[in-house]
Amino acid sequence: MTRRSLRRALLSALTAVAVTLALAPLIPSATAAPTDYQAEDATISQGVVESNHAGFTGRGFVNYNNVVGSYVEWTVTAPAGPADVTLRYANGTTAARPLDFTVNGVAGAVGITFPGTGAWSTWASKTVRLTLAAGTNKIRARAATADGGPNADVLTVNPTSDDTQPPSAPGNLAVSNIKSNAATFTWTAAADNVGVVRYEINRGGNVLKVVDGSTLTATVDTLTANTAYDISVGAFDAAGNASQQSNVVAFTTPPSGDTQPPTAPGNLRSTGTSSNSVSLAWNASADNSGSIAGYDVYQGATKVSTTNSLTATITNLMPSTQYTFTVKARDPDGNASAASNAVTVRTAGTGTGGIPAYDRDIAKVDLGWSVAFLPDNSGSALVTERDRFEVLLVTATGQKTTLGKVPGTVTTTGEGGLLGLALSPTFSTDRWVYFYQTAANDNRIVRMKYENGALGTTAEPVLTGLAKNRFHNGGRLRFGPDGKLYAGVGDGQNSGNSQNRNSLNGKILRINPDGTPPSDNPFFSTGGNARYVWGLGFRNPQGLAWDSRGQLWASEFGDNSQDELNLVQKGGNYGWPACEGTIGDCGGYIAPKRTWSTAQAGPSGVEIVNDWIYIAGVTGSQLWVTQINSTGTGVGTPQAVFSGRWGRLRSITKTPDGALWLTSTNNDKNGGTPTVLDNVIVRLKFP
Ligand code: GCU
Ligand code: CA
Ligand code: CA
Repeated sequence: MTRRSLRRALLSALTAVAVTLALAPLIPSATAAPTDYQAEDATISQGVVESNHAGFTGRGFVNYNNVVGSYVEWTVTAPAGPADVTLRYANGTTAARPLDFTVNGVAGAVGITFPGTGAWSTWASKTVRLTLAAGTNKIRARAATADGGPNADVLTVNPTSDDTQPPSAPGNLAVSNIKSNAATFTWTAAADNVGVVRYEINRGGNVLKVVDGSTLTATVDTLTANTAYDISVGAFDAAGNASQQSNVVAFTTPPSGDTQPPTAPGNLRSTGTSSNSVSLAWNASADNSGSIAGYDVYQGATKVSTTNSLTATITNLMPSTQYTFTVKARDPDGNASAASNAVTVRTAGTGTGGIPAYDRDIAKVDLGWSVAFLPDNSGSALVTERDRFEVLLVTATGQKTTLGKVPGTVTTTGEGGLLGLALSPTFSTDRWVYFYQTAANDNRIVRMKYENGALGTTAEPVLTGLAKNRFHNGGRLRFGPDGKLYAGVGDGQNSGNSQNRNSLNGKILRINPDGTPPSDNPFFSTGGNARYVWGLGFRNPQGLAWDSRGQLWASEFGDNSQDELNLVQKGGNYGWPACEGTIGDCGGYIAPKRTWSTAQAGPSGVEIVNDWIYIAGVTGSQLWVTQINSTGTGVGTPQAVFSGRWGRLRSITKTPDGALWLTSTNNDKNGGTPTVLDNVIVRLKFP
């Protein structure tokens, strides 16, 4: 039960008590409770009381003699008017045994059949509507055939009303005197053929207050501050017929001026995971106002869910990835609590990792630089075409649609162009796609809307002023498990940038989705460009991926001797240009976890599946595979696969259904729109 429905259930339970108490004097005897009259206590003509068949109530039942005219006659007390009269009976034969009912000697319901119940110990009920007089009535049930009546257990008499006409709807509902916890309602009377006995003031389907049928105003003093209400009023007659609702009045209560936040939610915990979702639960917060308006769930620093309940399921996550969540409560005035305890959860894997095998060709493209799968389980991905500056939609079966170009992209007649892309962690609602592009005067990160199958035509700058050059433009973009956007930025062919904290180049940057610098970045307090820096001392990092512990791994192109795979720490310095791989003046810098000769790797895209790392090698024209060790501190000996098979490999991306897409970028065309599409997207599968 959600918190809202729990609250609703509690409210209606409380309201039901209140209504019962308030209405006791208003309810006429026409709705008196049903009364049981045992057959064995009634007047019996041509029948005997027996108890040899199980299942009867009271002391036994009446076995009618099997003759026409045998009867049982009950003496019952009731108000004048209709009553539902129910006979509990058993008939162990297959022939129906009709009874005629009379009330005070007058025929009430004749030829009522009592079909076989399968056994004499199997009891059933049949109801007839009889009109009773005020006070004592004699209800006789007389056998209509020579089979006699069925065995008769008990008669239940339930006086009812034959008024079925509901009141008209109350009119002209108006609200006045709105306070943070109260409001007054007035309306005009409903009309009824018998009479209105009460009005109910409703919020949606919940009764807030009940007043009697002669009252046309009510003040409700249980409202919550700073909360939207839709209120209507319904009328009831004595028979319980309900009118339609009055007009609805809508209003929002003002804030109460409360400044005291709720207590933090407690015991945040994971209640389940799948490969793309995490379910969370937490304990309720308390607030001095008496109510909690809602809870906000944060994935890292990004709000990913808002709810009134004590549970949430966060979706659109990546498989085999670690995420950290917290929850805050809000009171009606909008005061937010401190964060709950953080809970760190790893999504389930969809693939096993290990050495992949070729599965099938997906598509041929010009220069597919980066791939991002849509979070809609369609299996389709967006792909950037580096030199055509185009964004493609590629389906799981390889159908390609060109969605459009990212405006303002230019070539560097080298390694620039339209490079990385990433989907917003809240893409399902905000539809933002982030791109890393080379523009007229800089490299920059921009975002565009992709809605209803169409890419927008304008690009909104997210972070600009990254130095560009013919080479060393970096270009990978990925959102981390903390909801932040990470970018691998090359040194722009100026190695002096890499150690300069105030340069955006030669860095791994960490950015809020709106382009602002996160205040928990390592050099935030330095100001300027340093606020965006997550790690420094890189030459040309083009691969970013997170392991099951939430650790960031990055690839880096070396110069003439060593390429690197780095485990990137917040604020870590990886040594370029003084140190290349493990060569040079490397003291005081963080060493790579793995190096290759630059001829073997040229590592661009990186992906991690169940702590297996896949690295697309450009220069080496092969895919490197290695496994993170059990302590998460290093990797095993890498193996090269698919050597030379598709040429220079640029990106590697896990699919939503547990496979990999690999792209090649051979024959770099340095801008323009060639018609020969000679690079691949292929699908790899796990063993
Ligand atoms: C059986 C049965 C009786 C029943 C009778 C009948 O004798 O035990 O309870 O009334 O059949 O057919 O009427
Ligand atoms: Ca009988
Ligand atoms: Ca009526």
